[in-house]
Amino acid sequence: MVTDPTLAKPFFDEPKNFVYKDIQAIYSHQHPSLFTLPSMDYYKAIRKGVAPAFNSSNLRQSFGRLSMLMTSAVDYIGRKGSGQSVDIYTLATRLTMNAISLSIFGADLGDSADAWETRPKYACLFEPAIKWVIDSAPVPFIRYLTFIPAIRRKQAELRALHAEQVRMVQRLRTCNPSLSSLGGHLLALMDPATGKPLTDGQLEAEMATFFFAGYDTSSSAISWTLALLATHSHIQRQVEAELAGLGLLATPEQPRPRALTWQDLGSLDYLRKVIKESQRLFTVAATGTGRMLTKPMRVGRYDLAKGTLIHIPFNPMHRNPSAWDRPEEFSPDRFDVEGADYLQPDASKDAESSAGAHEGVNSSGALAEDAELHGGNLFQEKLSSQPAAGMDRTERSQIRRYMPFSYGQRNCVGQNLANVTMLTFIATICAKFTLALDPEMGGLEGVKECAVVALTLQPKDKMLLQCTSRSGPAAQAPA
Ligand code: HEM
Repeated sequence: MVTDPTLAKPFFDEPKNFVYKDIQAIYSHQHPSLFTLPSMDYYKAIRKGVAPAFNSSNLRQSFGRLSMLMTSAVDYIGRKGSGQSVDIYTLATRLTMNAISLSIFGADLGDSADAWETRPKYACLFEPAIKWVIDSAPVPFIRYLTFIPAIRRKQAELRALHAEQVRMVQRLRTCNPSLSSLGGHLLALMDPATGKPLTDGQLEAEMATFFFAGYDTSSSAISWTLALLATHSHIQRQVEAELAGLGLLATPEQPRPRALTWQDLGSLDYLRKVIKESQRLFTVAATGTGRMLTKPMRVGRYDLAKGTLIHIPFNPMHRNPSAWDRPEEFSPDRFDVEGADYLQPDASKDAESSAGAHEGVNSSGALAEDAELHGGNLFQEKLSSQPAAGMDRTERSQIRRYMPFSYGQRNCVGQNLANVTMLTFIATICAKFTLALDPEMGGLEGVKECAVVALTLQPKDKMLLQCTSRSGPAAQAPA
């Protein structure tokens, strides 16, 4: 396990390891997908084929509908009444699921206006099924022991998910998505082995991947960011000032400010830093990434054989005191510095001074336990910090310490959609409401305690926020 950015760097050029193959049982044909494959020809063809769907000109085309979706979610909060509690995690789950549906089918899920605080059907089917697939992966034959009622039930849940995914493929084939959409790109893909368009089984694996890789990551990240804003009023006030400066903030005098535009996204510098900092503190891709070495490597003082499995959990790296000053503090301004995603001279000095003290143990003692929680059982040995000693300033500035979307050739292909979704929704809600944590959440400590790892780092059940209308109670009273 590697939690030190200096040591992690060379591993990102190596292929993903076989652990991902276990997830394929989540697809009815168990076909490999973009997420589960090592970087071979089929993988490269899919990645190359879908990546343009996430470029800014294509995302810009669907921004109008995405922004309408956000407005509809925020209007729902308004209809509940000023100061009422809203389960932001459930609402964000529905929102992100709808955003992915928009990007694949060119239409959202067609929910009723008041469905925002109920979990979407796909999430309800996916969550027990993925848990079962992961739990049973070490002994897959138990899936066939269907004379045991509990296993019969779990297999039935898995089949229900498969049936839903098959329906999604049928919908994609009939909905005629625009060529610029993710759905359009998926339909245009060719399998390099056959020279033909993807089969239903291949399409199902890719679509299911986009739904599961995108909805829970984005909704958890939105929930953590809003909870951090709700518990750090001075930072919420700076977001408010930024929105006011752009004429986007609702006030009693101007209850209906102008709507957020695509161009505004480029001006929300402070909010972008807030989201980045929230993703550092609550890194939703908590299990990180895995690699298998294709060649022997010497890293730090370790000689690693070909075939060695490397686990890189991002959470401990993002809180590693050898890489970050005051790592436990929520401080968006740390991203003010140019090149803040990379090791900074001062943090590296910290690394040098702490190296001796931590020799032989994980570079972040307090976080070793954290790393264990995030999948440490995969790999027995933790590579100890052999940090930046002897490195000059230029070398240090090339070592990435921040990677919520991973890094290198297997980074997140959907990160632009995720960023646009997070920025647009958080700006839209903050423009209309001031946010406070519902006392039931137990303050910031309660928020931290409710973080659980279930594939992603997500709130245990809910994230309750009290949303008070900026334009006064009358303007937002329930209909
Ligand atoms: C805040 C939201 C998101 C975060 C933090 C995130 C994070 C990540 C990370 C860390 C990886 C690498 C995983 C690994 O190495 O095992 C990844 C891969 C991936 N993500 Fe995301 N993701 C987010 C949103 C999305 C969205 C919205 C989509 C698409 C709709 C998406 C699609 C994918 C896919 C397809 C991969 C596999 C890419 C490949 O291996 O080439 N993600 N994501």
